[in-house]
Amino acid sequence: MKRQFLLSISILITTITFAQPRSVTELSTGWKFAKGINDQAYQTEFNDKNWQTVSVPHDWAIYGPFNKNTDKQVVAILQNGEQEATEKTGRTGALPFIGQGWYRNSFDLSDFKPGKKVVILFEGAMSEPKVYVNGRKVGEWNYGYNYFYFDITNDIKAGKNVLAVNLTNLGQSSRWYPGAGLYRKVSLIVKNQESIDQWGTFITTPHISSDFAKVSIKTRVSGANLQLRTFIVNAAGDTVAHDRTQTRFGKEFDQNLSVPRPQLWSPESPYLYKAVTRLYQGSELKDETTTRFGIREISFKPESGFSLNGKVRKFKGVCLHHDLGPLGAAVNIAALRRQLQILKDMGCDAVRSSHNMPSLEQLELCDEMGFMFLAETFDEWAKPKVKNGYARFFNTDAEKDVVNLVHATRNHPSIVMWSSGNEVPDQNGSEGAKRAKWLQDIFHREDPTRPVTVGMDQVKATMASGFGSVLDVPGLNYRTHLYEDAYKQFPQGFILGSETASTVSSRGVYKFPVVKGINKTYPDQQSSSYDLEYCSWSNLPEDDFILQDTKPWVIGEFVWTGFDYLGEPTPYNKLPSRSSYFGMVDLAGIPKDRYYLYRSRWNTTDNTLHILPHWNWPGREGQTTPVFVYTNFDSAELFINGKSMGVRKKNDSSPQSRYRLMWMDVKYEPGTVKVVAYDKNGKAAAEQSVVTPGKPHRLVLEPDRTQISADGKDISFVTVSVVDEKGNPCPTVNEQLSFKVSGSGKFRAACNGDATSLEQFHLPTMKLFSGKLVVLVQADTKPGDIKLTVEGKGLKEGEVKLVSK
Ligand code: GAL
Repeated sequence: MKRQFLLSISILITTITFAQPRSVTELSTGWKFAKGINDQAYQTEFNDKNWQTVSVPHDWAIYGPFNKNTDKQVVAILQNGEQEATEKTGRTGALPFIGQGWYRNSFDLSDFKPGKKVVILFEGAMSEPKVYVNGRKVGEWNYGYNYFYFDITNDIKAGKNVLAVNLTNLGQSSRWYPGAGLYRKVSLIVKNQESIDQWGTFITTPHISSDFAKVSIKTRVSGANLQLRTFIVNAAGDTVAHDRTQTRFGKEFDQNLSVPRPQLWSPESPYLYKAVTRLYQGSELKDETTTRFGIREISFKPESGFSLNGKVRKFKGVCLHHDLGPLGAAVNIAALRRQLQILKDMGCDAVRSSHNMPSLEQLELCDEMGFMFLAETFDEWAKPKVKNGYARFFNTDAEKDVVNLVHATRNHPSIVMWSSGNEVPDQNGSEGAKRAKWLQDIFHREDPTRPVTVGMDQVKATMASGFGSVLDVPGLNYRTHLYEDAYKQFPQGFILGSETASTVSSRGVYKFPVVKGINKTYPDQQSSSYDLEYCSWSNLPEDDFILQDTKPWVIGEFVWTGFDYLGEPTPYNKLPSRSSYFGMVDLAGIPKDRYYLYRSRWNTTDNTLHILPHWNWPGREGQTTPVFVYTNFDSAELFINGKSMGVRKKNDSSPQSRYRLMWMDVKYEPGTVKVVAYDKNGKAAAEQSVVTPGKPHRLVLEPDRTQISADGKDISFVTVSVVDEKGNPCPTVNEQLSFKVSGSGKFRAACNGDATSLEQFHLPTMKLFSGKLVVLVQADTKPGDIKLTVEGKGLKEGEVKLVSK
């Protein structure tokens, strides 16, 4: 990723100046937006005064309202094993993403001189963007998830330039909420004709020893009589290697630099270097870029599986869709960072961007915070899953989409694997294996350093057709019963759990009796947090744990999903359900119980001792109310109001009892549930309690950060909960709350994690769900204090002060 000079942006019109050989200006403010068909909106002279003023990244659909008729589909979801078409609502989130949208902006290039080159870069536009500069169409790109750029040197003029972007979203084009509009960054790059090409730098580390690392840097440039100087700078800012060359191979300079005593990148120690590249013509500096990279070695070998820097390890990964809950698809660094922090605490070390190209911001954060990344491309190849999906474009666009993914992201050390597809229907039939090979060859051509996988659900078909044998990394989605067969049949000698579990639950909701259930539904359209409910094609977490723990050739898993996402409200697939139940963490970013089950395995540095359910069951007195404990300790004793319910030890009597401590016969009585965990020597090592709360009394506000940046984008996520007079959480309160923000910030959105809530995220009122919700407070561009006040009937109001600097 290149980090260049961000120049000042004026409010009305973005003025670009050229003090440096290269300027990169993010076009974030001053945008005008309108939904609908506007035939003339591409023209320079077009009156957009009455259009809405927005900043980009922007998602036009997230403001709602939710509507059951939006993208209503009468379909059989074949990959869910459905035979008959039924009505589905909420499959894409029931938010108004369908239709056309227009964005207009202008920028001032008064200093523009011949000899300069101007490039406009989009990091994703949903979808089918058509881009116009000064009334002329400069290009289009079909796939809404990809990064693309156009050279607009011949379309711009010195002075004011008008940019217009048209987007079109069709119904039945997605299996989840896609978002709508310019949901990722748009930048304008002004450089010299003699310059480094867009995404022209490719850094690899082909040889690593404790003494030195060979850093290979290939740089594609335009122009004649050029020489290149490259400096490698370590995290302390010291130059540790440099090189100068004039030798070019076609468009490419090819340098090898030696970095002494390299610090290796890993999730545990995400050390980053920078390559500063300067391009000269004679003594004149023509261009300069900075590319961040890491020194690390990956390998995938039969039997031992995956290793990073010579150490075998298994992926403790999650799948994530791209939406950020109440922010929709609009990229936001604070939201992404919070997501990763929550996952880090769980012990997660890998992310799969299902089922498309990740945002560059997410990759940068994964580089910095230490997550390995499986970057995916497509949910469809030539055979469709939905009527208007990517299959419409596959034959013409797949190659250029893969090329742009690889070129834009290949220097991120976090990326350790590519995925060319997810459960593509092309797994069936002879053409599929050829397509798999064709795509994989494109990846290899563009990046010889990383392997390619596909998430396969038609495992038997892929064994028969050779599809699975073609892949560098055979990835199985679910189908735990076929791992052994696939391992024997496929030649690679290892299997990746590319998608696992798909267990469903609603935070803080528990159903009785406590039994395993497939596609289980309830009148309130929630799923039980006893974590025993899953789908006909999927499984409970323990089925994966057993494979991971007993088969050395299983190289890890990517659980469906880390966070809940908008759309795909399985097992209901009808409103009011409008978001998923699969997350270990809900849509608001509040962990569900299942988070602690994974944490008890994955976080190997901190103890986990988590009790469920909550203990507030008026009316259940004397009834069986099982208690589960998720812990890294092997055994624990449970006490209800001081009375021992016995010691439980993890054991092999069932998959669940290997990983959970369960007291199935507990009878509910109000009071205290206490658990004491024992270490290997039988000594009490940790203790945790849950109590029956008194009357709901007051609101407690807990910001994830009390200090945020005054950049107009940064967000503090404030968790609001209800407690009784003594401060005990009240886990069943669903009171309506209202929010007020004053000072140097604004109320941005709220979210309660209830998959059935049709309340709009951006309105300053929302019901609590299971006693909690999250309020998002966004900084202004002016520094100062911010105050959030939260009120609810019968509750003492809560208040929190934040500082924006
Ligand atoms: C998988 C699919 C995911 C999601 C998941 C739900 O088959 O790859 O996108 O639909 O099922 O269980």
